[in-house]
Amino acid sequence: MQACLAKAQALGVARLDTALLLGQALQQSRAWLLAHGEYALTPQESAAFQGWLQRRAQGVPLAYCLGRREFHGLMLKVTPDVLDPRPDTETLVDWALEVWPPYGRGDQGGLGAGPAAAESPPHVVDLGTGSGAIALALKAAHPNACVHACDASAAALSVAKANADALGLPLALHTGHWWGAVDGLLFDLAVANPPYIGEDDPHLCDLAHEPRSALVAAQQGLADLRAIIAGAPAHLAPGAWLLLEHGHDQAPAVAQALAAAGFADIAHRLDLAGHTRCTGGRLPR
Ligand SMILES: C[S@@+](CC[C@H](N)C(=O)[O-])C[C@H]1O[C@@H](n2cnc3c(N)ncnc32)[C@H](O)[C@@H]1O
Repeated sequence: MQACLAKAQALGVARLDTALLLGQALQQSRAWLLAHGEYALTPQESAAFQGWLQRRAQGVPLAYCLGRREFHGLMLKVTPDVLDPRPDTETLVDWALEVWPPYGRGDQGGLGAGPAAAESPPHVVDLGTGSGAIALALKAAHPNACVHACDASAAALSVAKANADALGLPLALHTGHWWGAVDGLLFDLAVANPPYIGEDDPHLCDLAHEPRSALVAAQQGLADLRAIIAGAPAHLAPGAWLLLEHGHDQAPAVAQALAAAGFADIAHRLDLAGHTRCTGGRLPR
């Protein structure tokens, strides 16, 4: 095992990443690795480890090498078809849980209408769900809610479905372009972490292994945020919140678009580094 560690160090792979990749190759915990420093890898284990190590050294996200990522306490399958869910996005989940809509929407039509509407659980949508991270975290916190998850990418949605099945957290999945995927439905809460990086942003070269369609938007990264905001009033019940993740310098533009679309109570949340990375508003009742 010492030779593996030396190789990883020579390639510049961080010690924690190396330990996780080694644990994956050996199907052992970090505690086991610490206690068995003299273990000699089999040729198969060595080949698997070297392969992941090379990929990590080339900048492939650790989550893609491991095939998994923990998000809001859930272990998710992650593939190169989906964005590697970021810890900062847990801020959006926590905010959604803070403003969680009450049970029952009897008078608004759409999903909540009908004889049993007064008893109906909240209907919530995650636009651009990717791995299903946000939608599944919300469903885990409120198993009775009807949580919808949409994405333009069928490949991403199949990862979200695999995660929903593995976790026993059923989602209503829809393929399509933003609100077009859920036309005719009315929601009590909407969340989205859409692509928001500008086409010429220099940070994109550090994100080369993630799907460009999950990252990049026109209009200096604001096009998808604006499309979601513009379409929201037709798909949200009165009093419903729309909460959005965005880039660190986009809060004023997002707040302006929300106000122009008729949202009130516009507010922000900070990410783990203290940057204003979420903006949301509520439709008047
Ligand atoms: C930044 S990723 C967020 C993924 C996931 N929600 C998360 O937070 O980890 C944006 C997602 O939006 C999807 N997307 C991009 N354009 C879209 C569109 N026009 N309509 C619906 N989804 C879209 C991408 O496929 C991607 O999964």
